[in-house]
Amino acid sequence: MGAVDHLEGRTALYVCNCNGIRERQVRAAIAAGASRPAEVFRVHQCQPRCAKCVCEIRQMIGESREALRYAAE
Ligand code: FES
Repeated sequence: MGAVDHLEGRTALYVCNCNGIRERQVRAAIAAGASRPAEVFRVHQCQPRCAKCVCEIRQMIGESREALRYAAE
């Protein structure tokens, strides 16, 4: 996971440090239909810079798909 930030008394994990995208923001983009890391960046109106977060975003998308597949069974 990325860096940790304290916001409004809660802990927020950054997935993308370059663009300040938090885990919950990635999950929101996935829930809105993002199926590739590029779409997650597009939803948040930014572009990858160092791309260190791309593997983690891809993993989160995969986990979401797995959860949906499991729920559909
Ligand atoms: S950490 Fe996401 S582009 Fe650098």
